[in-house]
Amino acid sequence: MASLRSRFSVLWLLFIVTAHVINAVGRTKLIGDEAACESKDNMISVRSVRTSADTGPEPGDLAAAFTVRTLDGEFSYQPGALRGPLIIHAFTNKSGFLECLWSSESSLSSLVQNLPDSAQVLFLSLDDSAVPDALWMREQLQRAAVQHRKKEVLSRLHFSPVPVFALGNWIPAVFYYWSCTSRNCVLAQAVFTSEGWNMPVVIKRLDARYDWLVARWSQKSYRLMDAGDGCHPSPLVEGAVAWVSEGNCSFFTKVQSMAKSNATGVLVYALPGNPIQDMNCDGDECDTPLSIPAAMVHLEPSVAEALRSGQSVVVSLQNTPSPGFFFSIDQQGALAEIGWFLYPSFSFINWQAQWFDFYADLQTKLQRPAKVVPVFDKVQMQGEKGAVATVDLPLGLLDFNTLELDASLSCPGKRDLSCAQWDHTVQLFICCDHLGPYCNMELGRWITAFRRGIGRWLTNVSPLLPLLDSNRCTLTMKTVPWAMPWIVSLNLRFSISNQTGDITGEDEEELRPFRVMPLYSGGTFDKNYNKRYQPIKFLVQGSTKKVELYAVITAHGSDDNSCGEFCVTSHHFLFNTVFNNTLVFDSAGTPLGCTTRVKEGAVPNEHGTWLYGRGGWCDGLQVNPWRVDITKQLNVSESNTVLYFGLFEGKDPNPSKDPGYIIMSSFLVFYK
Ligand SMILES: *[C@@H]1O[C@H](CO)[C@@H](O)[C@H](O)[C@H]1NC(C)=O
Ligand SMILES: *[C@@H]1O[C@H](CO)[C@@H](O)[C@H](O)[C@H]1NC(C)=O
Ligand SMILES: *[C@@H]1O[C@H](CO)[C@@H](O)[C@H](O)[C@H]1NC(C)=O
Ligand SMILES: *[C@@H]1O[C@H](CO)[C@@H](O)[C@H](O)[C@H]1NC(C)=O
Ligand SMILES: *[C@@H]1O[C@H](CO)[C@@H](O)[C@H](O)[C@H]1NC(C)=O
Ligand SMILES: *[C@@H]1O[C@H](CO)[C@@H](O)[C@H](O)[C@H]1NC(C)=O
Repeated sequence: MASLRSRFSVLWLLFIVTAHVINAVGRTKLIGDEAACESKDNMISVRSVRTSADTGPEPGDLAAAFTVRTLDGEFSYQPGALRGPLIIHAFTNKSGFLECLWSSESSLSSLVQNLPDSAQVLFLSLDDSAVPDALWMREQLQRAAVQHRKKEVLSRLHFSPVPVFALGNWIPAVFYYWSCTSRNCVLAQAVFTSEGWNMPVVIKRLDARYDWLVARWSQKSYRLMDAGDGCHPSPLVEGAVAWVSEGNCSFFTKVQSMAKSNATGVLVYALPGNPIQDMNCDGDECDTPLSIPAAMVHLEPSVAEALRSGQSVVVSLQNTPSPGFFFSIDQQGALAEIGWFLYPSFSFINWQAQWFDFYADLQTKLQRPAKVVPVFDKVQMQGEKGAVATVDLPLGLLDFNTLELDASLSCPGKRDLSCAQWDHTVQLFICCDHLGPYCNMELGRWITAFRRGIGRWLTNVSPLLPLLDSNRCTLTMKTVPWAMPWIVSLNLRFSISNQTGDITGEDEEELRPFRVMPLYSGGTFDKNYNKRYQPIKFLVQGSTKKVELYAVITAHGSDDNSCGEFCVTSHHFLFNTVFNNTLVFDSAGTPLGCTTRVKEGAVPNEHGTWLYGRGGWCDGLQVNPWRVDITKQLNVSESNTVLYFGLFEGKDPNPSKDPGYIIMSSFLVFYK
């Protein structure tokens, strides 16, 4: 038994090491490293293993037509016939994650209530039990649809009784070869051994919510100790994994009382007939950090019996690779990954489908007439230098009153696994006249997604047209020098619009910005933050028709109040000492703040905590300029003043440790 267990451990270790290598260097490099370990003879075969003939289509490839049998007849996919995205899901009850996804009322109701109207979902099963699985999945969603009076959604949900391995088309290749290492597509398991048993007992588990319990299981074997309902500390569990029943108190109380008893971890078992649940904290509980790992499992009778009769039971935790559970076909007919589910909920399908709708809409916007100046075409951005290009601007620049940035960030490989894993600020600087006042001002800002390569955004920066003060400009796009590489594309789109890109959309005569005046930049958000800002005086010429405040502000870092990324800061531009123009980052720190911005292009289902609201930004999204028409606050042909200040809870920031920082570009824009 010992040797069996240690073999599991070695496999698990390899799994971690492989994932780590991928994390550290990306997929392209990994192929090289693998080949380097092989003899020369083997090198060719190692490389050829990855050709698409063997492994099927890759993300971005066009999906071929297919037909599968469903409980109601058949589902047929024809390229070009889809109105919206198709999400394809393969269920297996070997996964505690999927069991919970399909049992949780909030998960089921989110699908029937919030699946975008354009989207369809095809449900499959990976197992021999495909017929009962399909019937069960349909029943679960029918029940939720009736309960929420959303029966119309059912016509867009398709359930196939044919297991994935029997489909006989290209779909199995995608599920089997696109498998990933994330929590939602491996089989997380608990392995029990006891003296009298011939075989270890392996059951599925679902770890507590990723962003609640930070502690992870290690690869060791632990003594398992029964601790009843786990609601009160018990000296028996010291150094052991506590075996506790669900119910009688919250998951938080169980884990906290077991941690107080110096248990190494907690396994909460579902009472007979109950499904595995998503263990999470609730309300104020979430403010107390806990330091031991926990997971939910089913009540395994042999384990309960062994503990009851006083036999020793040993538990270890393993993660077994599995096929993927989800992929999709977008409106354009291209195959796509749909990212990481941070917890078991169909909301993640909805968010991905919303993003596909955003992307289809973006494609339409990109068809509008414009003079396009390509800057970067799939250029690697990395290191101190970033990506740099010099471009010639179109003649007759003054005829255009609209400038949009069409930017995208993708990864060195086709799969998300090749993407850089952290969220960093990306800034675009422009210098046209090297001797002029505007050289190397910031023209655009984005935040990278955690390990997803699908971001593309169209940002209206028309007020900054005066920065283009010569016909030849150098553009530099960069992020922190230590970030893994991103592949950037950028087009400048010049056009003429009625509204000078005014966000209020109100009809006004064609105005064009002719001058910008740089105001303030950000800095360390500590008690001296506002001391450095002095009033700036300026004149408004008589020919000026409109003056606008234009600012791009993001808050970062984490002091003792979680400022600035996760605290509510406010930013004020005070004109002529009375007009107080205010921007408040009120969704910073909210649990789902950034999910509401998927419709605007925030990349969903990233491999990190992309959902939380942040200080003026979201992961995988452009930073929208803040624009205020301040014409009426100013006196023409006379001296005016402006003063900026930034506050936390209406007061000067005053962190006791690790102050955060504000990144800010701000301008006055003069139109005529
Ligand atoms: C899934 O597995 C659990 C226990 O492992 C069982 O209780 C449940 O009935 C199964 N569900 C389906 C749909 O097979
Ligand atoms: C829950 O609490 C009740 C009352 O104290 C107790 O009888 C029961 O055994 C507890 N449940 C478990 C699983 O320990
Ligand atoms: C847990 O460990 C701490 C530190 O070793 C010790 O002070 C405490 O008494 C232990 N608690 C229990 C319930 O055993
Ligand atoms: C300008 O606005 C009018 C009406 O508001 C609209 O019909 C026209 O298409 C617009 N022109 C352009 C170039 O957007
Ligand atoms: C400038 O404008 C402010 C606000 O409208 C007004 O209070 C002030 O009197 C004006 N100053 C002059 C000199 O007109
Ligand atoms: C501007 O408004 C904010 C709240 O919106 C307030 O805290 C601040 O004191 C105001 N400042 C001035 C000078 O009016």
